[in-house]
Amino acid sequence: MNICIVGVGYVGLVTGVSLSEVGHKVYCVDTDENKIKLLNTSECPIYEKDLGLLLKKNIKRKMIEFSTNHKNCFELAEVIVIAIGTPENCDGSANLEFLNSVVVQIAENVKKDVLVVLKSTVPVGTSDNVEKLINKNLKYNVKIEVASNPEFLAQGTAVSDTFNAARIVIGVNSVGSEKILRKMYEPFNRPIVVTDRKSAEMIKYASNDFLALKISFMNDIANLCEIVGANIEDVAVGMSYDERIGSKFLKAGVGYGGSCFPKDTKALRWLACDHNYELKTVKAAIEVNEKQKMKLVMKATEVIGCFRNKKIAILGVTYKPGTDDIREAPSIPNITYLLENGANLHIYDPVGLENIIKLFGDKIKCTNIMEHAIKDAELVFIFTEWEEITKLSFEQYKKLMKTPIIFDGRNCYNKESADQFNVQYYSIGR
Ligand code: UGA
Repeated sequence: MNICIVGVGYVGLVTGVSLSEVGHKVYCVDTDENKIKLLNTSECPIYEKDLGLLLKKNIKRKMIEFSTNHKNCFELAEVIVIAIGTPENCDGSANLEFLNSVVVQIAENVKKDVLVVLKSTVPVGTSDNVEKLINKNLKYNVKIEVASNPEFLAQGTAVSDTFNAARIVIGVNSVGSEKILRKMYEPFNRPIVVTDRKSAEMIKYASNDFLALKISFMNDIANLCEIVGANIEDVAVGMSYDERIGSKFLKAGVGYGGSCFPKDTKALRWLACDHNYELKTVKAAIEVNEKQKMKLVMKATEVIGCFRNKKIAILGVTYKPGTDDIREAPSIPNITYLLENGANLHIYDPVGLENIIKLFGDKIKCTNIMEHAIKDAELVFIFTEWEEITKLSFEQYKKLMKTPIIFDGRNCYNKESADQFNVQYYSIGR
């Protein structure tokens, strides 16, 4: 099939490359000239396991092309997949400005029947609105249908998530649209869930918000564990044997971040508010997460008192391992707080330094050698459970640090062995 992908952000690029890998001819289009130039030299603009290799392979065999010419790409396509960003407005609602402008361009330029697929995360009802917008702006005598097809990729595992998807959700309002999408996804051989468009849009938000809620619930219980003397890791293991609960997303820590959970929880809450409904569970998930993000520094303030002029090492800044993304990462408000309180920060992250420097500039010192950050530090904070961080032993901390005090926001180490090495070790819910 000939498929056009609009927007080569993280979702669009992974989707485009995966579709080309299974044999579709993919035309990717984006307004960002620099990104398109880079992609045309076979360079991958994002850090994502296996994506670079597949990109190179499919450019070479001419299964995927990149351009800034929307009109051309629209003309070639049987399916146009919209994967552009829907950033957050100040009030938490989703900003559909870019999406709508692309939709108008499609309506004005498409000269043959086409299926428009919304892959961007959009508020419930958007497919209906997009269809109206298309019909209002249609220039030629063509039939353009709209379908919803949310994505469930997680950063760091996006390629394998695509090929091993638990399900592919398609929201359609005609048998024709369903047929086209089934054909497009047939090579992936994954379960396909067919719904109406609004339900598909809701599945996306409900899935992300449920996972966010699961994490916030565990963080809430972790805080209670600390008060009553229980251990959240043991509690999670004990819970996980119940298949109704499952074993995933039970890990307590300094809260969730990234470009999805924070945005999607706020967007769904906003949508509910807009319909005079209070989504109490999602509200709770957001509130618990906001507080949890500052949990470590608050704990450290109680223990240490003052951070002024202290050399403090920060290990891990990305919102999770396997990505260089720092959007909404819990490390950010913590770094801000520590800087405001006069700390001398030395930051280590295997891939996220470039992004954190963009944010804090010369207020922080960065290194890609973990031991350099830790050397002579009076305190260590851990915000991301990168493998190289979890491998470091208490013995090494003891050897390198001025005073071995560790605040671990991702429960990277065995708590008991800290006592053995005389390291002051604080973690979450244990
Ligand atoms: C999330 C969803 O997992 C994907 O299914 C979805 O497609 C994606 O959003 C999206 O909407 O695009 P992602 O944000 O990449 O994916 O990352 P996750 O692996 O879900 O982690 C999100 C945050 O939750 C991270 O900060 C992570 O550290 C935290 N987390 C995760 C926990 O604190 N505890 C856990 O047990 C799991």
